[in-house]
Amino acid sequence: MCLNKCMGILLKNISTLLTLQGAAAKSGRHIKEEDLGILHQASVIMDKDKIAWVGPHKKLPKEWAKKKGLRELDMKGKTVLPGFVECHTHLIFAGDRAAEFEMRNQGVSYQEIAAKGGGILSTMKETRSSSLKDLVATGQKRVDHFLSQGVTTLEVKSGYALNLKDEIKVLQAVQALKGPRTVSTFLGAHALPPEYKSYEEYLTFLSEKVLPVVAKKKLARRVDVFIEKGFFPVEASERYLRRAQELGFEVLIHADQMSLSGGSDVAVRIGALSGDHLLQVEEKEIRNLAKSEVTGVLLPTADLYTKTKYPPARAMIDAGVRVALATDFNPGTSPTQDLNLVGLLARLEMKMSLPEVIAAYTVGAAHALNLHKEVGSIEVGKSADIIGIDQGWSCLFYSVGEAAEKVVFSRGKKVFDFLN
Ligand code: NIG
Ligand code: FE
Repeated sequence: MCLNKCMGILLKNISTLLTLQGAAAKSGRHIKEEDLGILHQASVIMDKDKIAWVGPHKKLPKEWAKKKGLRELDMKGKTVLPGFVECHTHLIFAGDRAAEFEMRNQGVSYQEIAAKGGGILSTMKETRSSSLKDLVATGQKRVDHFLSQGVTTLEVKSGYALNLKDEIKVLQAVQALKGPRTVSTFLGAHALPPEYKSYEEYLTFLSEKVLPVVAKKKLARRVDVFIEKGFFPVEASERYLRRAQELGFEVLIHADQMSLSGGSDVAVRIGALSGDHLLQVEEKEIRNLAKSEVTGVLLPTADLYTKTKYPPARAMIDAGVRVALATDFNPGTSPTQDLNLVGLLARLEMKMSLPEVIAAYTVGAAHALNLHKEVGSIEVGKSADIIGIDQGWSCLFYSVGEAAEKVVFSRGKKVFDFLN
């Protein structure tokens, strides 16, 4: 903390501040409106990349107000809240799958398209033949779009290259992205590439030849696998994830998306950070998730695009599951980066309350990334990841296609301002 000379910034004239402190204290479970930690006429002090003080402006300690070098920034009555945490994206890919979308819309199933070499494998071909430079260039545009919506922490998965050389290239592209804090995840186990005959054989290759390289080069600290009928089988996937844990990776699972295929059970058994999708889970799975530290990452835009049901969020939340929301941005099942649409579907289709949606996109998602001690709420010592909007908080996740005018600070620096 700066005690004598200060490099900090005082954000003042905040009409309403949502600290999310209560939601953080409850680890993102059973969220009510009072857990948003609403303060009026508030101020925040950012000292370098951290939050140094937060509270009602009239309680600002005199020693802070007098601090030499403390810059003041008039927030002009904005609503201020923690930066959003977007905890599930497949943002690095080449090409699109618009033609496949039309086929699905005319009645061909996702699995049928995948079995004929379309789906993930068609994106694989384009991603393999794309250069690192091109992947970074398109990736950065997408990152900037997330940033303009207030995303200050962004997870990005590999998984559209499916060989050693190009998966490394994709993870290097993730490392080159600028703006928000990024978290990269190795999803080599996304689909079976044509070079391998069986999922087991491919998982052995990933365990023996790829994971050690990813670990050594520190290209990702998380490993994900798509457990699903017609994709990666339960037992071999569990062995693979345990091997990843031995190598020091955190693990998570694309689980129970298209069928109840056992992914969330594995997540609970092995202590995964999250189980993602989960629309097929039933009472037993919900009970087990609620007792665990696994965060349920819910991805309703994928459910919209694949025209399936939505996850039983109400039952999950009421049972005590911690949930997060994310876009699942990818060219196949969720070709959208729109946080508002995600939140809107959560409210309309999954019966989540607005405080639950806000907490899911901050505290819940921070837990899914194991970053809850650093991000997700505005508290002293946490990262100065803050957004200001020219609307009341009740207007969040309400209007699609109309982004609120925002100012975004990431680690204490202004990274986006709608005026500039
Ligand atoms: O999260 N389920 C697996 N992976 C993605 C879809 C990837 C794709 O179709 O390209 C998902 O929905
Ligand atoms: Fe996904």
